[in-house]
Amino acid sequence: MKIVVLMGGDSTERDVSLVSGDQIAKTLVENGHEVIKIDPSATRDEQTELNKTDIHWIGLDYPSIDALPLHRSSLYLKNIMLVRRLRPDIVFNALHGGKGENGIVQGMLEAAEIPYTGSGMLASAIAMQKDISKMFFRQNNIPTPRAVILERPDSSRKKLKNARFPQVVKPNDQGSTIGLHIVERKEELDAAIDDAFKFKSKVLVEEYIPGKEITVSVIRQRTLPVIEIIPEHGLYDYECKYKEGMSRYEVPARLSDEVTRQVQNIAFKAHQALGCTGYSRVDMRLNEQNEPYVLEVNTLPGMTGTSLVPKAAKAAGINFNSLVEMIVEEGLKKK
Ligand SMILES: Nc1ncnc2c1ncn2[C@@H]1O[C@H](COP(=O)(O)OP(=O)(O)O)[C@@H](O)[C@H]1O
Ligand SMILES: [Mg+2]
Repeated sequence: MKIVVLMGGDSTERDVSLVSGDQIAKTLVENGHEVIKIDPSATRDEQTELNKTDIHWIGLDYPSIDALPLHRSSLYLKNIMLVRRLRPDIVFNALHGGKGENGIVQGMLEAAEIPYTGSGMLASAIAMQKDISKMFFRQNNIPTPRAVILERPDSSRKKLKNARFPQVVKPNDQGSTIGLHIVERKEELDAAIDDAFKFKSKVLVEEYIPGKEITVSVIRQRTLPVIEIIPEHGLYDYECKYKEGMSRYEVPARLSDEVTRQVQNIAFKAHQALGCTGYSRVDMRLNEQNEPYVLEVNTLPGMTGTSLVPKAAKAAGINFNSLVEMIVEEGLKKK
């Protein structure tokens, strides 16, 4: 097949996406496909460069996020048109965050009538907004931490007057733990909220769930082994997520069969409740009583060699080549 890998983009997760994209592209070539890499934020010369080089990491020989002037966002339309002219059988969406994950790129691909991997426009948009996701979770009896949503920096913070600490403050639509604070004391709450508002989105102030960090991957209508994450920092932040050795992982998580089955069921329900298709990864907390809570559904989870979905797949006996192929097949089913 002829496959375009969309990677990079102008979100805060650009660098991770370049790595995901490169690994996916290489794997698709190994699997016998014709592959063209396209960065929706790149100029034509840069696209040529992108297709000449291997493995990109933080601005080595390719522009990183800081090198992207603001007007680059207008390149998205041009580049989707470029993808259309290439007439691929399918687009493998390896973007993370921003327009690549929030439904905008999905909508552009729909308009251009190009099949693509992962969830559709609506599910992507719902999953990107943590407050909206929570509405869907509650409606489907999927446990999720209680949260107060602040629309604007000057919104009343009265509802938080009797909050019990710790609380988690996070932008409504960021990923990679960016702008997230765990607030231990009331006096620190306002500063954390103000900081989270820097990301130009609503802010969620959420009940802190002590206990374990787990994540469940969903692919082809089934769940993969549960992963327990033991971050070096206590918080699974950007560094722990992307730096080798900054987190330990237990795959499968050391949970009883009963708890394992329960969290897998909840994860699958969360994936379905948002209308996700193809694959996703559901981030959860498990408190000391082994009660699970869904934090969010990631519709375009990391796909680098050390990412969580490939780890879970491996534990289920699915290697990276097969995983990538499965995602393509699922994408074609959506057509
Ligand atoms: N309510 C919570 N209780 C405990 N830890 C949390 C909570 N919300 C977030 N975290 C921590 O912050 C990380 C990122 O939060 P998450 O909601 O998954 O947002 P994102 O991954 O989009 O930044 C989680 O993986 C977890 O380590
Ligand atoms: Mg998360």
